[in-house]
Amino acid sequence: KPLVVAIDGPSGSGKSSVSKEVARRLKLAYLDTGAMYRALTWYCLKTGIDLADGAAVEQASKDLPLELSTSANVEYVSVAGVDITEEIREPRISSSVSAVATTLGARNELIRRQRQLIEQHHRRMVVEGRDITTVVAPNAEVRMLLTASEEARLRRRGLQLGGTQSQEQLAAQVIHRDAKDSTVVNFTQAADGVVTLDSSELDFEETVETALSIVGK
Ligand code: C5P
Repeated sequence: KPLVVAIDGPSGSGKSSVSKEVARRLKLAYLDTGAMYRALTWYCLKTGIDLADGAAVEQASKDLPLELSTSANVEYVSVAGVDITEEIREPRISSSVSAVATTLGARNELIRRQRQLIEQHHRRMVVEGRDITTVVAPNAEVRMLLTASEEARLRRRGLQLGGTQSQEQLAAQVIHRDAKDSTVVNFTQAADGVVTLDSSELDFEETVETALSIVGK
């Protein structure tokens, strides 16, 4: 039977690692919608599209020859056969992705593809992003907002990037990006019927277990 688990949250909330582990334990498919916005950003930069040109970004979203893994056990993103799994995590992508994600025409196209992927997996999928609980899958069986204090988010993102970034670079990637993103999607407050999971004081295992207990309810 269908089980869509929609998980939204800001960057550095632990969303990706927690969502993947929940998918593994429940044997569900997994979709990282942020990777789709990152892949589109990579493609626009690669083909020289001006990110401020909304019509061009929208057209690029329709042309985008994207392939991405829907398994929590395999991380794979490619555009036109070029493996960009690692490259889309680079700061140059993180710092441009909001410009792409605030282009409404491009959002609509990626949302359409996300819904299609959910259907293709017979609605048995963990889907994570910023607008999954509210826009992509408001009818999901389970909807949660994974939050964490700003301090915890900066610390986690710092660890994830191997401690190579200054506090300023981290803030740019976490706080400033969230501020830009939240002009088009609301992931700072749980919508009606969405359960908030605050992971500030929880370790990874505790967060996963809490998420699983929310699914079990
Ligand atoms: O989750 P991640 O940090 O990889 O997402 C990258 C970017 O993609 C976000 O900063 C946001 O601009 C965009 N995004 C979005 N809606 C989603 C998922 C990601 O706008 N559902």
